[in-house]
Amino acid sequence: MIWRIRKYIQHLFYLHYRKGHGIHSPYLFEFVNKVIFNGAELTVPPEIIRTHRELKKDRTQIPEVKLGAASHVNSTGERSAASFVRHSSVSEKYGALLYRISRWFEPEMIIELGSGLGISSLYLASGSPHVPLHSIEGNPHRASFAEKVVAGLKMEMLNIHQGEMDEELNKLIPHVRGRFVAFVDGNHRYEPTIAYVRKLMEVDGDEALIIMDDIYWSKEMFKAWNELNSWPESRVSIDLYQMGIILLRRDLAKANFKFKF
Ligand SMILES: C[S@@+](CC[C@H](N)C(=O)[O-])C[C@H]1O[C@@H](n2cnc3c(N)ncnc32)[C@H](O)[C@@H]1O
Repeated sequence: MIWRIRKYIQHLFYLHYRKGHGIHSPYLFEFVNKVIFNGAELTVPPEIIRTHRELKKDRTQIPEVKLGAASHVNSTGERSAASFVRHSSVSEKYGALLYRISRWFEPEMIIELGSGLGISSLYLASGSPHVPLHSIEGNPHRASFAEKVVAGLKMEMLNIHQGEMDEELNKLIPHVRGRFVAFVDGNHRYEPTIAYVRKLMEVDGDEALIIMDDIYWSKEMFKAWNELNSWPESRVSIDLYQMGIILLRRDLAKANFKFKF
C-alpha cells in the first residue's frame, strides 16, 4: 500500500499537461482531448449506467474460484455481486472511458481478458455494438452471471468464454485481425500479463489499442507495464495511473505520457 501511495505521488509529479501540450500528432491530440478528457460529448447509454448501479446493490452470493492473483478485498468462499462490482469492477468513470475509446476507435473486434460480472464488457460493447466482443472469464459462476447480465441487455455480439485465460486467448488469437481494442483486466501477475499482451501485439492487424487495468496494483504489474512500453510495437503509452493505454500504430513516434485522469 505504501508503495502504491509513493507511486501515485510520483505519478502526479511527472504529469504532462492535460490539454495536449507537447503532443505533435493530430491523431494523438484528438485521442487525448476528445476521448480521454471529453466525457460530455460521448455519453454512455443510460441503461448501462442503470445496470451498473443496480449490480452495486445486488446481494447474490457468487462462489470464489482461485485464479490468477488473489483479490485485495476478500478471500472467503463466496462474495456478493455487489462487493465484486464495487471493489473489482471498473468504476463508472473508467467504464465511461472504455465506452468512449470503443466508440471513437471503431474497432472491428474487441477482446477482454477478465469479464468478472460483465461490467466493463457492457461499457466496451455499448461503444461499438455491431462488432464482436470476446471476453474471457475463468470463474464459471462469474461467467454465467455475466452472461445473464449481457442477455438482459440484448447484446448479441458480446460473447463470454469461460475458461483459463491463456487457453481461451490461444483459441481466439487466430480470429483476431484488423483494428482491435483489447482490455486486459485479469490475472494481475507479471508473467501472464506479459504473455497475454505479447500475443495481442503479435496479431498481424492494421492498428490496435490495448488498455491495461491496475498498472500500479503491484510491483509486478508496474514492471509488466514498463516492460511492455519498452517494446518496439508499443508506439505510444498513456499512463492514467489506474489504467494504461498502449497505441499500436507504426506511424506514431514513440512516446510515453502520464496524465491525471
Ligand atoms: C478484476 S476482475 C475483472 C473485472 C471486469 N473487467 C470489470 O471491470 O467488470 C478480473 C477477473 O479475471 C478473472 N481471472 C483471473 N485470473 C484468471 C485466469 N487465469 N483465467 C481466467 N480468468 C481469470 C477473475 O476470475 C476475475 O473475474
